[in-house]
Amino acid sequence: MNTALFDRISAVEADLSVVFVPSEGELPESTAWVDAKSSGQILQLRESEVFKGLVAQTLLLPSISEEFASAVLLVGIGKDALSDAKAKKVIAAVSSQIKGLPFAKVAVALSGLTIVDREAANVLTLAAQWLNEGFYEFIGFKQDDKEKVTKVETLLLEGSDESAMSIGVATATGSAFTRQLGNLPGNVCTPSYLASKAQELGEDYGIDVELVDETKMDELGMHCMLSVGRGSDQPSYLIVMHYRGGAENEAPHVLLGKGITFDTGGISLKPGAKMDEMKYDMCGAASVFGTMKAICELKPALNFTAVIAAAENMPSGHATKPGDVVRTMSGKTVEVLNTDAEGRLVLCDALTYIERFEPQSVVDIATLTGACIVALGSVNSGMYSNSDVVAESLKSASKGAADKLWQMPLDEEYQQQLDSNFADIGNIGGPEAGSVTAACFLSRFTDSYPWAHLDIAGTAWTGGAAKGASGRPVGLLTQYLLSKVS
Ligand code: BES
Ligand code: MN
Ligand code: ZN
Repeated sequence: MNTALFDRISAVEADLSVVFVPSEGELPESTAWVDAKSSGQILQLRESEVFKGLVAQTLLLPSISEEFASAVLLVGIGKDALSDAKAKKVIAAVSSQIKGLPFAKVAVALSGLTIVDREAANVLTLAAQWLNEGFYEFIGFKQDDKEKVTKVETLLLEGSDESAMSIGVATATGSAFTRQLGNLPGNVCTPSYLASKAQELGEDYGIDVELVDETKMDELGMHCMLSVGRGSDQPSYLIVMHYRGGAENEAPHVLLGKGITFDTGGISLKPGAKMDEMKYDMCGAASVFGTMKAICELKPALNFTAVIAAAENMPSGHATKPGDVVRTMSGKTVEVLNTDAEGRLVLCDALTYIERFEPQSVVDIATLTGACIVALGSVNSGMYSNSDVVAESLKSASKGAADKLWQMPLDEEYQQQLDSNFADIGNIGGPEAGSVTAACFLSRFTDSYPWAHLDIAGTAWTGGAAKGASGRPVGLLTQYLLSKVS
């Protein structure tokens, strides 16, 4: 699908025109123009209370007059500027309506759509992103999958800021990639599959891809990472992708994703209920893939390195056992008290590996702890940082992308929960503050650069009937990287 801008609704020819209708007061400019073409039907419908313009209410008018060939979709926006959450609901209603209709060319007149605290360019970015994201369908394994493909070929948005629109479109392209990878089952999406996807990105966009296999990891002393995949028949990979859009001597910004393609818990086996959801334990990795795709589409002037720590956590006769002590690449030893706290074990060696890039900043993204879901639910990602500069930069990207995060503490007092009698560090910190102690574990490996950690256990996917990967936090990460263009 192709997204482009249009200037005036009077000059555009579409099969379907979408206009916003407030519940009170004057109609926005484009809506008023369409209303005039319909001899005042829109205002009449509002007065008769057939269509009141309530937030996210919709009504399709298949034809409004002989001279205006386009069908019209009315979309309610209420009476006040919308909150992010309400605006998202409005846009989701638009995508879901037009997805079910047979129109190929759809024009969305954005006039009237205002979001609290957001400028027009930012509204255009988010509208472009959310509309496109609304078209995502998991296409994979069902016999009727072919029928799910949207009929929309061209999406036209009212506006003039080409670059604002393309950020939104690229973010949606990235987040669709993230969701697709996240939704694939563990028997398809293995560490080798992720490696092959990196190589595909390399070919499609001309970025450099390196694979660190288990033999190389062994040589590098990445025994902590290796300990996680030990019980699996699937080989682990550290996957590295370099996007080089900046000056040759400019240090890169690094994103590191947890890529546990399935987390059974290992010998510390998880309970059976909802264990299928542990296919999403590679959503940190998937969000890094999606961000790489968005950045490759946008081609900003910056250097960005993506690192994926990919492994499968299985129980077997070869598996790491509780109490085993392993040596990390950094030299520190870890007592693996619980094999289900495996994310930190792959990430710590990746964090050490990343030192070789002498990065400007490192952000890791991981579905790290159930405790983060207890603390923040599915609204905010948990953010931890050893640098105020990185933390502030992530907060402002989060605001811009309407992709929420909440900064969590990393006080020294929590660190002692990781003390071990038998090694330098234990891999769990006891029942209290589980998301914090997981971040504390990672912080032991990040002394040489400004770093932040995003715990996305609660935000990377949605449970219940609408079960699926959310595509978060691709919006936040893309905005974060774009803010680094000098
Ligand atoms: N992948 C899980 C975290 C998780 C749990 C994400 C539920 C999403 C939903 C992680 O590897 C894990 O198992 N963490 C343990 C840590 C504990 C053993 C210290 C957890 O959160 O229970
Ligand atoms: Mn686990
Ligand atoms: Zn896990």
